[in-house]
Amino acid sequence: MFSKKTVKDVDVRGKRVLVRVDVNVPLVDGAVVDDTRVRASLPTLRYLVDHGARVIVVSHLGRPDGAPDPRYSLRPVRRTLQRLLGRNVVFVDDIVGPEAHEAVSRMVDGEVLMLENVRFDPGEKRNDPEFARALASLADIYVNDAFGAAHRDHASTAGVARILPAYAGLLLAHEVETLTAMLTDPARPFVAILGGSKVSDKFGVIDRLMDCCDTLVIGGGMCFTMLVAKGVDVGDSIVEPEWVDSAKATMAKAEERGIEILLPVDFVVAEAMEPDAETRIVAREEIPDGMMGLDIGPTTVELFKNAISEARTIFWNGPMGVFEMPPFENGTRQVALAVARNNRAASIVGGGDSVAALKKFDLEERVTFVSTGGGASMQLLEGVPLPGLTALLDR
Ligand code: 3PG
Repeated sequence: MFSKKTVKDVDVRGKRVLVRVDVNVPLVDGAVVDDTRVRASLPTLRYLVDHGARVIVVSHLGRPDGAPDPRYSLRPVRRTLQRLLGRNVVFVDDIVGPEAHEAVSRMVDGEVLMLENVRFDPGEKRNDPEFARALASLADIYVNDAFGAAHRDHASTAGVARILPAYAGLLLAHEVETLTAMLTDPARPFVAILGGSKVSDKFGVIDRLMDCCDTLVIGGGMCFTMLVAKGVDVGDSIVEPEWVDSAKATMAKAEERGIEILLPVDFVVAEAMEPDAETRIVAREEIPDGMMGLDIGPTTVELFKNAISEARTIFWNGPMGVFEMPPFENGTRQVALAVARNNRAASIVGGGDSVAALKKFDLEERVTFVSTGGGASMQLLEGVPLPGLTALLDR
């Protein structure tokens, strides 16, 4: 059960509601090229509009330097939001100044106003109390729906929640509920698939997953540190030598708990990570010096597919290889397909790169749940409190 009050627990009619969303979307030449996060914010925004709130939308975009920077203006996102919401969205080039206050004072019930990128103010990332108070002075209540930024202890994600009555948005609640249910009550077998380049980023998550999963499937660059820990010579593949002992400890813990760790048994190797590199397929013990594993090999694909097909709960984070380059995309594609084809499992995908892979292979609609949070979902899975969540009112 979600332990925080949500937007449905408060009468919002006629109230000025400051809604923190995460519409940190990719822009190319000033146009939104992936509107997933804007769509994800719609249920809460629609709920507020339909219930007569005066909706003040606040978000960050990119990582500007605490000062206005036209490359990171939210103006193009406003157009997308307006189109998807099907109603006018007023925009101000201001965050907490007179222009913003004036625009808020002109609002009527059911209207939507979008403020400029909150990271244009240096107080945002510092969680400056004065900036948080200035944000709070625009509104009567605060709603946090920015799951993707809930791991940030910033003024608009946490500071303002300590000043105004603070509620969770519907996306934030759904994300937290889905990921928490996966950890606490998964249908079995629960197969967790991890990839990506660095194992050091994932030990916290691996540790937590070992409390609840049955099989850990590990691919991507991170598997080489695990293989070195098993005494395998991995040629020139990416390894984090300072994490080999932790990898050993993780494998020992898995054995103690009866959790199966599946590591690749073969690889697609090349001398360089280049889109036109000449590739070979070799067993994992036979990666030649001067070559590196850049994707899992075909025998591994079968091994991983079998485990995935048996699962009733699947969590996937991180690609199996350098899927952005055609010679090294097959492993990630096959894993994505196996996840998508398992209709009997609840399949949960989190983390920027695996979501990008799902999009690339056009499989996004075929999994049960795609998290909008990369860092936030990892932090939640690790069991590290999310400042944007803890600051909200308890039920
Ligand atoms: C994200 O894209 O992961 C979130 O929007 C958070 O962005 P940040 O890493 O710049 O805080």
